[in-house]
Amino acid sequence: MSHASTQSELATALLSWHTRYGRHDLPWQQSRTPYRVWLAEIMLQQTQVGTVIPYYLRFTSELPKLVDLAAASEDKVLVLWSGLGYYRRARQLHQTAKLCIEQHAGQLPKDPDALLDLPGIGRSTAGAILAQAWNLPYPILDGNVKRVLTRYHGIAGWPGRRKVERKLWNLAETHVPERQAATYTQAIMDLGATVCRRNHPRCCDCPLRITCYAHAQQRTSEFPEVRPPRQRPTRQATLLVLRDRQGRILLERRLQTGVWQGLWSLPQDTTIGPLRNLAQAHAGLEGCRQQNLPIIHHSFSHYHWHATPWLIDRVTPFSGVHESDQCNWWTPQQAMDLALPAPIRKFLNQLEENLNWPNT
Ligand code: ADE
Repeated sequence: MSHASTQSELATALLSWHTRYGRHDLPWQQSRTPYRVWLAEIMLQQTQVGTVIPYYLRFTSELPKLVDLAAASEDKVLVLWSGLGYYRRARQLHQTAKLCIEQHAGQLPKDPDALLDLPGIGRSTAGAILAQAWNLPYPILDGNVKRVLTRYHGIAGWPGRRKVERKLWNLAETHVPERQAATYTQAIMDLGATVCRRNHPRCCDCPLRITCYAHAQQRTSEFPEVRPPRQRPTRQATLLVLRDRQGRILLERRLQTGVWQGLWSLPQDTTIGPLRNLAQAHAGLEGCRQQNLPIIHHSFSHYHWHATPWLIDRVTPFSGVHESDQCNWWTPQQAMDLALPAPIRKFLNQLEENLNWPNT
C-alpha cells in the first residue's frame, strides 16, 4: 500500500493548505533542533504565540543549547521566564535539561516513553517534539487540535472529560501522516489558530469545509463543548511592604512549594500578626507611617486572590540582620531585575504613584 492511499483526507487537505497559508516564519521553525522545538512547546503550553516570541528569542540567545540550559543557575532560568507565568514549567524545563545530560548523553531522547518520563512532558508535548524535531508520526492534542477535530468529526462532550479525550486521541492518531508529520503538526495548529478559531471561524477559507461536520450542520459554535462552570473560592492575604527612607523594600524568596515557587515576592500571610513580627525583626519602626494600599486582584487556576498591601514606610533597617539570597532589601529598580510574579512586578512598578502621604 502506498502512503497516498492510506493518508486521511484531512491530512492531505491540510498539507497542501499549509504550503500556501500556513505559518513558516515562527522562530522555532528556524534552525530546528530538538532543544529549540521542546523549549517552544513548553512556553506555548499555556501562553499565546505572540506573547511567547520575545521570551523565546531572549531565552535562546542567552541559552542557545541544551547544555547551556543545564549549566545555568535556576535563578537565571527563572529570570528569563519571569512574566510568562506558570513557573513550574521553567523549573521542570531546567530539571529535564539536567536529566538529559545525566541520562541521555546530553540530548533529548528520541524515544516516546523516555520523553514522557521527563518532567513537564506529557503526551501532547512529546508528540509535538517527536513530530517537529524528527518528523516521526506521533499526534498532538492541544487546544487548537481539539477544536479542529471536535468540529470536523462532530464530537460532543467537554474535551476535558476522560472519555471525550480518549476519543480525540484516537482520531488524532488516525490523521497523522506517515511522512511529513512535522508539516502536518504545524498545519493543524495553524489552521486552529488562524481559520478554525474559537469565535468567528473563517469557514469559507477552510480546506476542510467540504467534509467538516460542524460546518455542514452550521453548528461550529457548539464545538468544542465548554467546561462545566466551576466555582473558584476567594482567598484573602496581606502583603507586607516594608520600606526604608531610601525607598528600598524588603523582599523574600518564596518557598519551593505552593504558588510562585522560588520567585522573589513581598512577605505574605493570611493575618497581620506574623507580618508585624517580621517587620519588627528587620527594622526599627519608630517614626514610621502605615497605610493599606489598593487591593491587588489576581486569579489562579483554583482560586481568586485578593491581597491587601500593608505599607510600613520610613523604617530603619537593622544593620545586624543578615541579608541573604532568601531575604533582602532592594530598590524598585533592582527589584525589576529579579524573578518576580507578574502582579507583584506591576504593584512595585506603580508603588511610587500610590504613595499619597498627607503633607506634614
Ligand atoms: N502552539 C503549540 N505549539 C505550537 C507551534 N509549534 N506553533 C504554533 N503554535 C503552537
